[in-house]
Amino acid sequence: MTAFDDLVRPDRYPRSSRYDPAWLLGLDMGPHPLWLLENLAEDLDLRPGMRVLDLGSGKGATSVFLAREYGVQVVAADWWIGADEAAAVFAAAGVGDRVEAVHTEAHVLPFDQESFDAVVSIDAFEYFGTADGYLPYLAGFLRPGGQLGMATPAMTREVRESGVIPRHVKDVVGWEAIAWHTAEWWRFQWEITELVTVTSARLQPDAWWDWLLWARACAEFRPDGRAAHQPVIDMLTTDGGEFLSFALVTARKGGAG
Ligand SMILES: C[S@@+](CC[C@H](N)C(=O)[O-])C[C@H]1O[C@@H](n2cnc3c(N)ncnc32)[C@H](O)[C@@H]1O
Repeated sequence: MTAFDDLVRPDRYPRSSRYDPAWLLGLDMGPHPLWLLENLAEDLDLRPGMRVLDLGSGKGATSVFLAREYGVQVVAADWWIGADEAAAVFAAAGVGDRVEAVHTEAHVLPFDQESFDAVVSIDAFEYFGTADGYLPYLAGFLRPGGQLGMATPAMTREVRESGVIPRHVKDVVGWEAIAWHTAEWWRFQWEITELVTVTSARLQPDAWWDWLLWARACAEFRPDGRAAHQPVIDMLTTDGGEFLSFALVTARKGGAG
């Protein structure tokens, strides 16, 4: 077994396991995005023909997955990755007709109000979604009854409550870990607005281990290799799941179901 083989886990992630690990590693921007999305989607009701915003879609693996697995029409919106680069990924994956790439910043989304059935965001919300005003802003783009689903790095305890960022996390991630809130923090942050009802707020089971498997495969097979990924491997190995996880949070906007 190599770290590459560890990325095929049909018992745990049957849909993701049908995707070529080499393709996915080529689109790497963080932990295995399809495992996160496949697990998150268990708490969503995605149906063919729905219009779905993939917010912070990066190089596009999750948008391909959404189009193929759930038959939805996807708008893939991202800031760091240009629309041409993402569109090439969608065309090569055979979903160019079902996924539109849009280059945009998350606070100035160029979409009509109430124009999406769902918004999905994988490993991106921590960069732009923690401010008090962000959920109300984003909810405006959902139809009444529309769904929101988000996977984001999380801590098992709020940094604010423990008073420090654990040293092994701080050494690798720096201050950015203050945005890695608990699942319950997100539940409160969203529900207090009364704009949405939170339908699930939980940690991905063994998220730290999934992340470690991914980092090991990246270290072995990515061109940027061990030097780029060893710090993350060390962080996760030290952590052992004590602090680090992923929060999977879903909600439904008020109004029609
Ligand atoms: C870690 S990558 C994850 C990409 C992809 N969802 C995945 O899982 O492979 C985070 C993504 O968030 C996007 N992002 C960060 N800040 C953003 C912002 N202010 N507006 C829009 N997208 C943003 C970046 O462009 C980047 O592609």
